This record gives sequence, C-alpha cells and structure tokens, in this order.
Amino acid sequence: MSLSGPSESPPKPLPRAPGPKLAPFTRTAHAVIQFVNELGSPGQDGRVWEVKIRGKTYALKMISNISPTDYLRDDLAGHLVRDLSSPQFYAHYFDPFNCECRAYGRLKEENQEHLAVRSHGYLLLTHAQELEITRLITGTEDDRDDLWERTEKDRNLPVRAIVKDLVKGGHPFTAEQVPQMWADLKALHELGIMVRDINIFNHLNGKIIDFSRSWSTPHPGYTAIDRYDLREERSGDPHGLNRAVIEWGIGNRWAWDQVVIPDELVKCASGRSPNKYGPDPRVYNWLKWEKDPLVASEFMEKHVFTGSGNKEH
Ligand SMILES: Nc1ncnc2c1ncn2[C@@H]1O[C@H](COP(=O)(O)OP(=O)(O)OP(=O)(O)O)[C@@H](O)[C@H]1O
Ligand SMILES: [Mg+2]
Repeated sequence: MSLSGPSESPPKPLPRAPGPKLAPFTRTAHAVIQFVNELGSPGQDGRVWEVKIRGKTYALKMISNISPTDYLRDDLAGHLVRDLSSPQFYAHYFDPFNCECRAYGRLKEENQEHLAVRSHGYLLLTHAQELEITRLITGTEDDRDDLWERTEKDRNLPVRAIVKDLVKGGHPFTAEQVPQMWADLKALHELGIMVRDINIFNHLNGKIIDFSRSWSTPHPGYTAIDRYDLREERSGDPHGLNRAVIEWGIGNRWAWDQVVIPDELVKCASGRSPNKYGPDPRVYNWLKWEKDPLVASEFMEKHVFTGSGNKEH
C-alpha cells in the first residue's frame, strides 16, 4: 500500500500553540492501518474503530478536519466573554482533536499517563484510507464529505486520528473503582486539565477515554469566562462523575450500602467542599515546559485575545 505523504517537512507535535502537544505516532504521521470494527456508536466528534497497526491492536479515534468556523467560535467557545484574535486560535484551543492532543500531551510531559486510557500519538489518514473507512462505514466512497462533515474547501484536509489503547469488553466502571476515579479526576485538575464531558460513556474500565472537550492550561477558557460560568465549569467535572456513578449504579442495581462514594466528591459536585470544587486547574505551572516562558505568557495574556476586550456578536 502506498502512503501518500502529506508534507515536505516532518509532521510536528500538535497543536502549534503554547501549551502541551501530542507527537505523531510514527515519524511521518502515517501508518498502514487495518480497520477491524467500529467501537461504540457514532459519537459527536468522530468515529472510533478497533484497528491493527504493525501487528498491534489499538482504538483509533478519527476526527474530521474542518477549517475554523462559526461552530468552534459560537458553540464550543460560545461562553467566552472575549473574542480570540484569530480563527486559528479557536481551532488550537477548542477543536476536539486539538483538545485531545493537549490533554494527552500534558499527561505525557508529566509522566501521568495512568490517569486515563493511554494515547500513543496522532495519525493523519491518507486519501486512500479515508476512502476505505468511508466505504466500510457507509457502503460507498461517495458519502465522504457528508460523513466527515466537510465542505468543498476542506476536502483536502486529512482526517486526523488519535491512537489509544484498546479497552476490550470494558464496562464503564465498577463500584470498587469509584474512589480511584475521583482521585484520578482530582489529579487531572492538578495538572491543569478539566475534562468537561464526564459521563458514563466516556469511561471504560474506570478510566477516562475522551478528552475532546477538555481544557488544559494554558487555555483562553480559563481566563475569559464570567464568574458564574467558571463556577459551572469547575463543578461540572465532579458533578458529572457523581451523576455517572448514580446512573450507572442504579442501572446495575448496586448494593449502595457497600459502595463508597467519596464525601469530597459529593461536596465538590455542589461546591460545598472547603476547597469548593477540588484542585483549581488554573494554578498549574504550565510555563515550566515552555522554551520561552516570557513569549508564551505574553501570548496567552495579550495576543490570543482581540484588543477590543468584550466578545462581539
Ligand atoms: N480506547 C477505547 N477502547 C475501546 N473502546 C473505545 C475506546 N475509546 C472509545 N471507545 C468507544 O467509542 C465510543 C466513543 O468514543 P469517544 O467518547 O472518545 O468519542 P466521541 O466522538 O466523543 O463520542 P461521544 O460523543 O459518544 O462521547 C466510546 O463510548 C466507547 O464505546
Ligand atoms: Mg465521548
């Protein structure tokens, strides 16, 4: 199989913006991929397949590549009170693929990959692979643009994919895993990562599998939302975990007198803990990783936002 190489220069860790980044899975960001079968049901951000690469089995999360559009600005970054100064910055910080890259990049730089289902890097699908997976999903190659929700002008942007460990036959979690899940979530917050989409289906075998809505410091979301929204965001993760535990437990008829739901989790879910919502992700020292901390902090404080201050609608 020939792999049509995309670029003159070797692919770089993504996204190309201050903060954590994920490196390509292979030197070229291409690999021979054998698609085995779809995992889960079609999600909001893309398709996840069991695949084989170099004889090993992985989960491959494939995400459309669309140019920065109103969707990123108005939906995914909708509650920001300040405009970002370039459409590209919305992509860097709010695009689901880049959100995954940033969270996984942080886990790797901090050597804390056990806090989630592990990622091994990103891949870019070749044109032939995109046609193949489109045919496998829809039965025809003609539905390519519909499937990947691309307009004509984005046709040549490759579908991007995150290579993750495959969790086989996994249930979201067991009652015994709940205290560890709360400990993992607090550890993520300490590393500056807010997951922002905690639910039953984003866990497998007690670990988080989905970072596509996450914010990892530095992130414009942490500075450009109002106090009310910040409270909602901070309580969102513990609230989501608490709700997931109750929903999954009721559905599976857990013997509640034997289930330990940490008191701190319940309190953080409603902001009643002494430290309100648990560790504050905003205080994580991300600058220690930057080659030029002065330039990076100035970018995040000034250049990432428009000069005009408030968001214009
Ligand atoms: N590493 C994995 N191992 C096994 N199955 C996985 C893995 N990652 C994802 N899946 C399956 O694929 C589904 C969708 O994955 P994910 O949540 O990452 O994508 P998504 O596009 O955000 O979907 P959704 O909108 O449903 O949250 C999961 O609910 C799970 O069933
Ligand atoms: Mg998901």
